[in-house]
Amino acid sequence: MVGIGSAVPGQRVSNSEIETFLDTSDEWIQSRTGIRERRVAEPELTLLELAARAARAALTAAGVDPAAVDTVICSSSSPDATFPSLACRLQAELGCPHGPAFDVQAACSGALYGMVLAQSMIQSGLSRTVLVVAAEIFSRLLDWSDRSTAVLFGDGAGAFLVGGHDQKGAEIVAIDLGADGGGAWALDTVRYRPSEEAPSTPLPEYASSARALDRVVHMDGREVFRFSTKILEQIVVRLAGAAGIEPNEIALIVPHQANSRILATAAGRLGVPFERFACNVERLGNTSSASIPLALAEADRLGRCHDGELVCLVAFGGGLTWCGVLLRWQPTAVGIDDPGDLDTNLGIAGREQLPSQDHKEVSA
Ligand code: UT7
Repeated sequence: MVGIGSAVPGQRVSNSEIETFLDTSDEWIQSRTGIRERRVAEPELTLLELAARAARAALTAAGVDPAAVDTVICSSSSPDATFPSLACRLQAELGCPHGPAFDVQAACSGALYGMVLAQSMIQSGLSRTVLVVAAEIFSRLLDWSDRSTAVLFGDGAGAFLVGGHDQKGAEIVAIDLGADGGGAWALDTVRYRPSEEAPSTPLPEYASSARALDRVVHMDGREVFRFSTKILEQIVVRLAGAAGIEPNEIALIVPHQANSRILATAAGRLGVPFERFACNVERLGNTSSASIPLALAEADRLGRCHDGELVCLVAFGGGLTWCGVLLRWQPTAVGIDDPGDLDTNLGIAGREQLPSQDHKEVSA
């Protein structure tokens, strides 16, 4: 993996703002999920634009021309169209050559499914440089009157650039990939049935506009919680076993950012200190398939990825699907496009775009 990119909308929506139109509280949301705020796409922002921003962040940071990308793989659980694929539209938007372009559907595991496919295509000689982009605008897939799901998700996009011409980056050591379709019912989408009653308080634009495909998220939260904690633990144990190490020898675990209670529970079961888990769900919420590249880009910028150490990416989500990738870290170019970056100062907003060789020097 030679490059990582991430992009988020500038609009920040706090729990307190959601409290004004939904029967919930900042206290409930923070104590059950760890989420304090999330990013929500402005009305004019399209999924394609968000995907392109993450892709360009990765390409620019790695110094790779879009013309060198011979395969584009995209993931989105919140698509704005059934076809043409986001990948085909992104290929045209970026000006990549006419190699294969297609979407994978593996819900929150999509970015890692894409990374595994990219590695297979490179190893088989089909491709040389693969761009994997996960982009989500979940705010358009939520029923904002359903408090059991509306408070959980956020919008964002992340990209992995895999392969390249003699470039160096993090190396894939082991993979754990799977699905259990028997659990599909636990996290899916259902037809959107907007309330016929007029809202008692005015709704913000993101909550009042039509849903993208007339469908909304539906979830059995407790079942998803059970599955997530169990599979996260199992993946880390299996990947550690494949590498001949104990789980606590992994330097950094970058899990799907579902919610911090899931991550803390899994950390406890594994006997790995929670500090070894990368967690930004507090600021971004659950961004589905975009969450791992977003969290990994941030972890590297914070100086948490060290050369030669093992970094474990763990995804799980609707399907039910899962994917773990164990990486041996090597210097990897990172680009972060965050126009709403007021707290962490990790993104490129308000500054000149960082040249790739400077990316290690940015402090938190
Ligand atoms: O990518 C994977 C995405 N999925 C997840 O990460 C979800 C995994 N599941 C969870 O994290 C938890 O199940 C939730 C955070 C979704 C819910 O927590 P819980 O402890 O399982 O709550 P619950 O669904 O059992 O509901 C407990 C109470 C209920 O009220 P009553 O019946 O006890 O009076 C709910 O109506 O909490 C109520 N509730 C809320 N209250 C305030 C549910 N949502 C909310 C809310 N605000 N947003």
